[in-house]
Amino acid sequence: MVETFPKPADTAMDHFASDAPGSHSCGTRSARAITMMHAAPAFTESSAGLLGDTPLRDYSRKLSSFNAFAKPELRALIASAGLGPGMRILDAGCGTGEALPWLLDEVKPTGSVVGIDLSAAHADAARRYASANIEVIQGDLLAACLEPASFDFIWCVNTVNHLRDPVQGVIRFSTLLRPRGRIALGQSSFQPDMYFAWDSRLERVTNEAVRQYYRDRYSLDERDLTSVRAIVGVLRAANLRNVAARTVMIERVAPLDAATERYLLDTIFGDTWGERLQPYLSDDDYAELVRVCAPQHPQFALRRPDFHFLQTFTLVTGAMDKLGI
Ligand SMILES: C[S@@+](CC[C@H](N)C(=O)[O-])C[C@H]1O[C@@H](n2cnc3c(N)ncnc32)[C@H](O)[C@@H]1O
Repeated sequence: MVETFPKPADTAMDHFASDAPGSHSCGTRSARAITMMHAAPAFTESSAGLLGDTPLRDYSRKLSSFNAFAKPELRALIASAGLGPGMRILDAGCGTGEALPWLLDEVKPTGSVVGIDLSAAHADAARRYASANIEVIQGDLLAACLEPASFDFIWCVNTVNHLRDPVQGVIRFSTLLRPRGRIALGQSSFQPDMYFAWDSRLERVTNEAVRQYYRDRYSLDERDLTSVRAIVGVLRAANLRNVAARTVMIERVAPLDAATERYLLDTIFGDTWGERLQPYLSDDDYAELVRVCAPQHPQFALRRPDFHFLQTFTLVTGAMDKLGI
């Protein structure tokens, strides 16, 4: 039997829509109109973010899958972030918006949450959470006309590593904060994930193949991809105070819950790995990887009783001083 990688239900990871939004003046106070201006189709390959983000890029399915999988840990981190009723929060690079209601839960009944994302498809998906207290803006967080000094807290997960200059991004965030406001930058996988507890070699060559694939795809140096680990330094370089870091372990063992199985099978085995890794692995390693990723194969990783998955999630926070920076 010839095994193949699982095919994701929707393979249009990098779908480019043909009907880009139009352009509007920035003078209006309407967030929607402000947003649409920044969604104008001016992005080219060279002006796209470090990892290829543009207003037309769509990897919604991957984002929803990650948030369903990591929901317990993300909600716990949000609940321990010291938020309170009445606060106004920005979710910068909100993706498909799952964190918007989680954040609102901490600041209701009088608080509010604004989500902003560059991608039209991600912002559209996030709008399913829109309400009187949740606003979703499509636009570039580096340029959108958000009111200065209007937020108490900025939540930004797995996004500053998509910016060409993360320090400039955080300096921009700091202009949006009220005095004593805080920024929380979250990043997954500072430590390599553990996928195959029984075969660290296959895991290591697979991880290296993924890194090489991304280096080739985006013409990046290894340092460009790993600089994300320096977010403590990013917050300090942007003059934030009381910088603190906390890493939690996302840990799952067999039998897996449905959200973890979907995330690993579709998003990791199907999208992040899949056939794209074949040129970066030996024939034997690729064949072994295909076997352990194939649900119909007796060696399918997610049905093994010894399956044990680890992924780190790091949250680094910093504060404005009481007068603002
Ligand atoms: C890896 S995703 C993370 C999304 C979300 N925070 C989450 O954890 O699911 C990065 C997001 O940042 C958005 N993004 C990248 N550059 C951006 C920019 N300059 N302005 C606004 N959003 C941006 C992308 O469209 C994408 O939705």
